[in-house]
Amino acid sequence: MIKTNTSVSKYPQPAGTHVETVTDVEHYTDRLFRFRITRPPTFRFRSGEFVMIGLPNAEKPVFRAYSIASPSWDEELEFYSIKVPGGPLTEHLQKIVKGDSVLMRQKSTGTLVNDALLPGKRLWMFSTGTGFAPFASLVRDPETFEKFEKIFITHTCRDVDELVYSKQVCGNLINDPLCGEFADKIQLIQTTTRQKFTKMGRITELLSSGNLFSDLGIGKITPGVDRGMICGSANMINDTKTLLESFGLKEGSNSKPNTFVVEKAFVD
Ligand code: A2P
Repeated sequence: MIKTNTSVSKYPQPAGTHVETVTDVEHYTDRLFRFRITRPPTFRFRSGEFVMIGLPNAEKPVFRAYSIASPSWDEELEFYSIKVPGGPLTEHLQKIVKGDSVLMRQKSTGTLVNDALLPGKRLWMFSTGTGFAPFASLVRDPETFEKFEKIFITHTCRDVDELVYSKQVCGNLINDPLCGEFADKIQLIQTTTRQKFTKMGRITELLSSGNLFSDLGIGKITPGVDRGMICGSANMINDTKTLLESFGLKEGSNSKPNTFVVEKAFVD
């Protein structure tokens, strides 16, 4: 049998890891791709959590945190990744093909989970770049729809073709076996900041100007109605967090649920 480049490693399997097989890879741009791997039968996680991913190509493999983009009920695991030129992991990870092996540490964790939010009516998911990944998981989990009446997902990228994955995930929701019936509860708001597009501007600008709410024809965020989740770069998180706090929302965690939660989009 002919083995592909990473399906057999000459290095021993690191302790506390699963070795999983790549089942699908899709490249969106020269900076972004998505891949799916088999799921260990014993692996449990909550939609929105992240896990450490590596490649079996070294004695001491490099691991990086990746949000799981698939929902907790899915038989496989999906990830949405940036390709960093010269990046210790993504330089190699971007070359994986179906049949290759990927390492995954055994425990998942994270704060972008439904449990870390108090009950509310509207849920806002604010993302930039690959920060959309945990929301791709949550939006395909029926529990999210049981908890909230309406879900607004914002995704902002520099260029138009970086918005394809979020459009694909939200657009396909109607055909989802578990969440299809909730597809009309979702509103995806995509904006670009550098390339011309129908809607432009950073989410922070749209929140502070109020254009986000006037375009949607709804009232602004209030603690009695709204809950928030933020995932993007450290600066994007800090700036968006300040704005949510100005609307009266307070940051929560797994041990102390409140009205919004944040997580950094990891690989950069
Ligand atoms: P901009 O093009 O104005 O920098 P990146 O690809 O660098 O991770 O950026 C993803 C998106 O996040 C870009 O559209 C970028 O806008 C936007 N962004 C960067 N910093 C912030 C911030 N502090 N607040 C809101 N959006 C931001």
